[in-house]
Amino acid sequence: ADALKIGIAGLGTVGASLARILQQRSNELAVSCGRAIRITAVSARDRNKDRGVDLSGITWFDDPVEMAEKGDIDVFVELVGGAEGTADNSVRAALKRGLHVITANKALLARHGVELAKLAEEKGLLLNYEAAVAGGIPVIKAVRESLTGNNFSRVYGIMNGTCNYILTRMEKEGLTFENCLKEAQRLGYAEADPTFDIEGNDTAHKLSILTTLVFGSQIAVDEIYLEGISNISIEDIHAARDLGFRIKLLGVAQRTETGIEQRVHPTMVPLDSVIAQVDGVTNAVALESDILGELLMVGPGAGGNATASAVLGDITDIAKSRPGAQQVPVLGRPAHLLEPYRQAQ
Ligand code: HSE
Repeated sequence: ADALKIGIAGLGTVGASLARILQQRSNELAVSCGRAIRITAVSARDRNKDRGVDLSGITWFDDPVEMAEKGDIDVFVELVGGAEGTADNSVRAALKRGLHVITANKALLARHGVELAKLAEEKGLLLNYEAAVAGGIPVIKAVRESLTGNNFSRVYGIMNGTCNYILTRMEKEGLTFENCLKEAQRLGYAEADPTFDIEGNDTAHKLSILTTLVFGSQIAVDEIYLEGISNISIEDIHAARDLGFRIKLLGVAQRTETGIEQRVHPTMVPLDSVIAQVDGVTNAVALESDILGELLMVGPGAGGNATASAVLGDITDIAKSRPGAQQVPVLGRPAHLLEPYRQAQ
C-alpha cells in the first residue's frame, strides 16, 4: 500500500515528540501497519528552532489552514490548541477537503465536537482524539469501542496532570503553589494559559467529552459546576490528611433520576482509596457500567511522550483502516443521534 502522508500542525512539546517517534520507529510502524507512515508537511511558527528532529524535505506551511487546504497529506494532525481561530478553522478545512483528522484539542471538541463529528461522519472520515482526554490513557478507545453495549452510570477521575502534580508536590515536599505550577509549565504539562488547568476548565473540557461518550447526549460543557484548585492552601492539604483524606481535583459525571450531573471541584478522597494514590502528572479515569462493573484506568496524563503515544495510536488506526469500511462514530454514536442534554435538577 502507499505510504500514509501525515501533516502536523503545531510543533510544541507534543508535536516535536510525535515527529521524533514517527521518524525513529518508521520501520517498526511500517511492519505493524502494513504501510509506511511519512510526515510530508508541518506547520509551526518558528522554522529555525531546534526540536531535536530532522525536518529536512518536509514542506513547511506558516498557516495550518493552508496546510489543511493545500498540503500533500492524507491525515491532518491538529496540535495547535484553542477552541476558536486557527485550530477550529484548520480542522474544518481538512474535513471539508476529505482528510482524516486527529486532534489533541479538548477545548475545541468541548465547544464544537458535535458539529465536527457531523462533518466527519457525512464524509466517512475519521476524527480521532485519544490524546484529548487523560493524555496517554486509551480511554476514548475503551469507551467508544471496547465497552460498546454497556450502560454507564458514572464516570469520574483525575483528568488534569498539572493540578495533580501541583497538589502532590505541595503535600509531599511542602513547595508553594506558584513553584509547583512553574515546574509543571517547565515540564510541558500545563496549558498555554495555565488558568485553564488550575481553575478546572481543562478538566471540564475533558469531562464534557467523556459525558457525551458514556451517556450519548449532546456535549454540555457550560452546564458543568466548576471550581479549581487555586484556593487550596498547604493548610487545607494537611487538615485533610489529618482526617484521613487527600485532596484531588476530580471531574464527575453521573446519571441521576432527573438527568445528568456534571461537576469539577477539589474533592476529599479517603487515603486508602486507589485514586488517592494517583500521584504527580498521572491521571485516573473510573468508569462504572452495568455489564462490566467498575474499571479504573491509571496512567500518564500529560507531557510530550505520553500525549504523543495517544496521537500515534490514532495515526496507526488510520493507517490500518480499510478504505470504504464503516468508521467508528466519532462520539460513540452517530452525531445526529445524540440525545438532548438533560441537566440533573
Ligand atoms: N494541561 C493538561 C494537563 C495537558 O495538565 O493535564 C493534558 O491535556
